[in-house]
Amino acid sequence: MHYQNYSLEQLNSFALKANAKSVVIAESVDAVRQFSEQLPEQFYILGGGSNSLFIDNYQGTIFCPNIKGIEISETNEDYLLHVSSGEDWHDLVEYCLANNMPGLENLALIPGNCGAAPIQNIGAYGVELAHFCDYVQWFDFQTNKEVRLTAEQCQFGYRDSIFKGALKNKGVIIAIGLRLTKKWQPTLKYQGLNQLGETPTAKQVFDAVVNIRQSKLPDPEVLPNAGSFFKNPVVSHQVYAKIKAQYEQVPAYPANGCDMKLAAGWLIEQSGLKGVSIGGAAVHTLQALVLVNKNNATGQDVVALAQHVQRVVNEKFNVMLEPEVRVIGESGEQLIADIEVVK
Ligand code: EPU
Repeated sequence: MHYQNYSLEQLNSFALKANAKSVVIAESVDAVRQFSEQLPEQFYILGGGSNSLFIDNYQGTIFCPNIKGIEISETNEDYLLHVSSGEDWHDLVEYCLANNMPGLENLALIPGNCGAAPIQNIGAYGVELAHFCDYVQWFDFQTNKEVRLTAEQCQFGYRDSIFKGALKNKGVIIAIGLRLTKKWQPTLKYQGLNQLGETPTAKQVFDAVVNIRQSKLPDPEVLPNAGSFFKNPVVSHQVYAKIKAQYEQVPAYPANGCDMKLAAGWLIEQSGLKGVSIGGAAVHTLQALVLVNKNNATGQDVVALAQHVQRVVNEKFNVMLEPEVRVIGESGEQLIADIEVVK
């Protein structure tokens, strides 16, 4: 399906009113191949639209792979799932639970499509996609062929993978392969889950995760947003020690050996920014890491607010927050630092 001058409002979870010059929706691998054979000069691949911020009308082609289907097989030890990229992530989590294949419950309610999950290695409550990912089925735009990448080749990191780096715009994910062990054990290391006792069922973990998320994170259907706007910053031990000396209670977790990962939501809240708004965009009152479209915000409002948050946090803590959300301007992805907001 090919549309011209198409509104993206329904296709992005920030519900921003931008148009795209053209939108192509591909519901089969053949449709992906057709797109690849006549690759437009300028294109942007959009999964579920839950991690993209459109700040202008996009002059190229938005490509939405929307292939459906789940195939299941098993070995003595594991369930093996081959999930097409257009399947909704949360529906998959529910489907696995309903069919006695636990493992994904900590990742309940993460918005977006399964094909987008490996790109930023989605994670929540002590679990990330990389724990289950066996392979990624990839369509290469240069060779017009499918290839299967092993989890190792995907180079997963914290909200990171090869799809954000060397393979960016070089092809598209058409399916993911997941491996769920039959010897399931709950993952309860996240603080909010440790009141479940030692042997909760997967359904109990699922319900607890859903409760935590619903108590802090805004429902995009009600208050449009893209989840965490920034990544949790990883800082050197020295920077951490300086902050800790002044703010004893700073939440931090060891990362990459000797560095520390700080809770960006906490830094933002301590900077007095909870609830602060610019135009129609606001810092969410219950989770400061989330920016919301509170009242007909424009993409420019969200960018102005994000820059304000970055500036104030940096002045207070000397830590520069880096967006997790991708910002798309007229001619493609842009760095937030390069955007001059028109007032
Ligand atoms: N905190 C505050 N104020 C806030 C927000 C958080 O003080 O406004 C403190 C919390 O009290 C806690 C710490 O910061 O001590 C961490 O907060 P939380 O557990 O809510 O998690 P997070 O680090 O803010 C990350 C992910 C979320 C994921 C949660 C739970 C990133 C960028 N975000 O948030 O993922 O759901 O952990 O595992 O890593 C997403 O990526 O879109 C997302 C929502």
